[in-house]
Amino acid sequence: MNFTNGIALDGPAGAGKSTIAKIIAKRLGLPYLDTGAMYRAMALSALSEGVSLTDAEKVDELLNRTDIKVVYEPDGQHVLVNGEDVTGRLREEEIGKGASLISKLRCVRDKLAGMQRDIAHETHAVLDGREIGTFVIPETPYKFYVTATAEERALRRVRQLEEKGETPDYQLILKDILARDYQDSHRDYAPLKQAEDAVLIDTTHMTIDEAVEAVLTALEAK
Ligand code: DC
Repeated sequence: MNFTNGIALDGPAGAGKSTIAKIIAKRLGLPYLDTGAMYRAMALSALSEGVSLTDAEKVDELLNRTDIKVVYEPDGQHVLVNGEDVTGRLREEEIGKGASLISKLRCVRDKLAGMQRDIAHETHAVLDGREIGTFVIPETPYKFYVTATAEERALRRVRQLEEKGETPDYQLILKDILARDYQDSHRDYAPLKQAEDAVLIDTTHMTIDEAVEAVLTALEAK
């Protein structure tokens, strides 16, 4: 199989995309690119500089003096902002919400999507995100839309937090998930949506292994 333009896995937060994308990448011997980490790094940068995440002009000015790099270490992908490794701070809830907000800006999306496109073409990576198949590498024939019901995604998040010793509130988490879905799929520019030629993988009643097999089978059939 020749994945010249990369492999796209899109879908809402918490559907299992990144876990599936990482395993697929490993099985195929390709790099994995977590594109959300790049939006998270930009949100972190704006928050630490006191720049409003919705102020297009100020964010554009910040973008021009921000050097974002993606590097691979033995433990996986790291993101550097002006040379500083910010990877450890990117998974916080606030940063995720900030990423969803800042990603609405055209200037942010054009810069980061351009970098992602170059990485996909150069390395034939597996990319996970929201608009990879519709906007970043629409030319790839290898597109998947990985989803699950909001209730199931909220339950999975609750279990994850419980494993970390936290006592999460299911209703609050569900509300956050629905708000993020709405924001990601209703922005004007390159919203989250299933590409017409994407294979739908609904993981609501699937294990990760089953979802991985479904993706690999679909790739082989192409
Ligand atoms: O996948 P994630 O939770 O790390 O993404 C955080 C936010 O970044 C997501 O809510 C919307 C934005 N994002 C995007 O617009 N496009 C991508 N390819 C990846 C993330």
